[in-house]
Amino acid sequence: MKIKNICCIGAGYVGGPTMSIIAQKNPNINVYVVDMNADKIDAWNSDNLNNLPVYEPGLAKVVKEARGRNLFFSKDINKKIEKADMIFISVNTPTKTSGEGRGYAADLKYVEACAKQIAEVSKTDKIIVEKSTVPVRTSEKIKKILRFYNSDVDFQILSNPEFLAEGTAMRDLEIPDRVLIGGDNTKKGKVAIECLVDIYSSWVPRENILTTNLWSSELSKLTANAFLAQRISSINSLSELCEVTGADIEEVSKAIGMDSRIGNSFLKTSVGFGGSCFQKDILNLVYISRSLGLEEVASYWEQILLINSHQRNRFSKKIIDCIEKNNLKRKVLILGWAFKKNTNDSRESAAIYVTNNLINKNIEVDIYDPKVNKNKIYNDLKNLNPNHKSKYISVLKNAHVNLSEYNLIAIMTEWDEFRDYDWEMTYERMQKPAYIYDGRNILDIKIIKKIGFNYIGLGRK
Ligand code: NAD
Ligand code: UGA
Repeated sequence: MKIKNICCIGAGYVGGPTMSIIAQKNPNINVYVVDMNADKIDAWNSDNLNNLPVYEPGLAKVVKEARGRNLFFSKDINKKIEKADMIFISVNTPTKTSGEGRGYAADLKYVEACAKQIAEVSKTDKIIVEKSTVPVRTSEKIKKILRFYNSDVDFQILSNPEFLAEGTAMRDLEIPDRVLIGGDNTKKGKVAIECLVDIYSSWVPRENILTTNLWSSELSKLTANAFLAQRISSINSLSELCEVTGADIEEVSKAIGMDSRIGNSFLKTSVGFGGSCFQKDILNLVYISRSLGLEEVASYWEQILLINSHQRNRFSKKIIDCIEKNNLKRKVLILGWAFKKNTNDSRESAAIYVTNNLINKNIEVDIYDPKVNKNKIYNDLKNLNPNHKSKYISVLKNAHVNLSEYNLIAIMTEWDEFRDYDWEMTYERMQKPAYIYDGRNILDIKIIKKIGFNYIGLGRK
């Protein structure tokens, strides 16, 4: 069986880039990306490729190549569902804010709404691909919904979690470490798996496409994120130990990372991991473990989140203490709002939490980020704290104005442009004494100190 038409529900950070690559690599398959957010679809169709709703290096080029040829962004969800032989569900699965499991469990209402809509609209057999990150056994729920609302057509369910990281999404999609496809071990299940394998085989070597049962695939995704986040919290916890012992976290990180059993990635200390997934996926893992009575397992994984918020808080406290002890201007320049470089995504960014801590102490905060817009910044603060002191916030279009108003700059995102700043000129124009709080350890300490700055990094002096 050959797939001719794909529909992807959800045109977000996963749906948009993933489908762009699938369309680029499979010119004979029509790929329709739909979303209930009409503005987002308009933005994906925008003539100006700088206005795409997702910023990812290399994305605009792929969209330009495939859009209008076999890649389409559409608001007509029902029509595209009906036409498709294969439907990806790539909608958000945030942490529940009410009801059972509130604050921990993944909210599957968007996934369930998609399943219901697919069932109601479908007139022909379809393969449904779970692309969103979901709790283990969600495919069972999806199956039940599909069969409950439509018993006339055959639905095969596959799990195909996405492992891309923002900022490097196009490279991750182009050369994935692995593609994971879970499906049923039945005749029809195996055919469905092969259909998806076929699509990926257009550019991914067959040995990198792993097929498993549905539940292994679902659980592997949550576990991969938990392992990655665990490494960051481990190195962040040690950064505090370095500060009191005189060890240097960059040296420790290098030394342990050279052990081939440990490996050197995800050992970069930071002001805390952000992004829409690590926290929500670990909370979900904690919830699943706890609800199965595995308290020790739950509290083991929960500790990763406690260290992450501790890291953000202790960074904020360092800044507040510095201002108070040295009687500095109560005004800070925050450089970077995105949760990492090369993305316009700021969900769960450490910058939001640190800024909230500062304004709670009546410290003014001016914010500059090369890609995150003003509305997003204000919304992020409002979502964290609806009563935040907005009068203390300004969003800047350029970080080089008003430098004379600050004694203190805090780097929150590792954008290359911050590392490459003209720090000498910045120092000359700042109030003295001048402090840099390097929340990403991106600057060369010797150079920065030579210029005259007081440098405060994480786990290094
Ligand atoms: P997103 O919020 O950027 O996009 C989700 C989109 O789905 C939104 O545009 C929303 O309007 C749309 N949507 C929700 N319900 C809908 C419905 N019923 N009909 C039509 N459209 C609907 O989310 P995302 O970052 O793309 O993440 C999607 C999923 O992928 C999540 O489960 C996430 O955990 C997982 N994931 C994300 C990343 C990442 O880097 N962002 C990486 C891997 C996996
Ligand atoms: C992460 C995973 O890396 C992806 O494999 C996964 O698909 C995705 O989550 C998801 O499920 O959403 P992402 O959150 O986009 O991707 O970006 P990462 O590169 O993992 O960075 C996450 C956070 O950790 C960022 O704030 C980053 O700055 C921080 N980080 C990362 C560190 O503090 N130190 C490190 O060594 C690495």
